[in-house]
Amino acid sequence: MQFEISQLNIGSDRRDFDDAAGILSFCVGSGAARQLKEYISNRAVSVFGARRLPPDRRLCGIILIMISFESCDILDIAVDSAIRRKGAASALLEYASRYCKERGVREQLLEVRLSNTAARAFYERAGFEEIARRKNYYSDPVEDAAVLRRRI
Ligand SMILES: CC(C)(COP(=O)(O)OP(=O)(O)OC[C@H]1O[C@@H](n2cnc3c(N)ncnc32)[C@H](O)[C@@H]1OP(=O)(O)O)[C@@H](O)C(=O)NCCC(=O)NCCS
Repeated sequence: MQFEISQLNIGSDRRDFDDAAGILSFCVGSGAARQLKEYISNRAVSVFGARRLPPDRRLCGIILIMISFESCDILDIAVDSAIRRKGAASALLEYASRYCKERGVREQLLEVRLSNTAARAFYERAGFEEIARRKNYYSDPVEDAAVLRRRI
């Protein structure tokens, strides 16, 4: 499956915003719309959405990144549950990584729940390595985070 990636911003279509908030809720739960609005309003954060090709009007995945000098935090990545394991997250990560490289970023960092086996498998496959653990980093439920890093 192939995907078209585009950036979401304050002027984006309302339907794209709603689709992106629905997808982000896989990561953050019920506060997704409020959180997405904050992210999109934050100039340090870039939000990218994926659509299936041939052109599909609806978004099926998103990635949110925050660049700080030579480092980039991957804040969230999520794909509609109906089309997982078809390469959408890989396409989003590749696009975001190209965007990062063009801006001088040398490494990507992220936190992931220890129990999130799908995400951990995804990141491992993409070449991320665990560099630390953060005790009780997550709430609801409380859980440790693995900190992962990849040089790009
Ligand atoms: C993690 C997530 C983003 C992966 O998205 P995806 O579009 O399914 O990922 P891809 O299709 O690009 O997967 C690429 C590779 O990652 C690995 N992978 C992805 N999901 C996996 C899973 N559930 N189990 C094992 N390996 C997995 C595989 O190696 C896969 O390649 P393959 O399908 O050829 O074997 C998706 O499962 C998701 O949205 N999860 C819920 C949100 C979330 O937990 N996000 C991360 C923390 S916020």
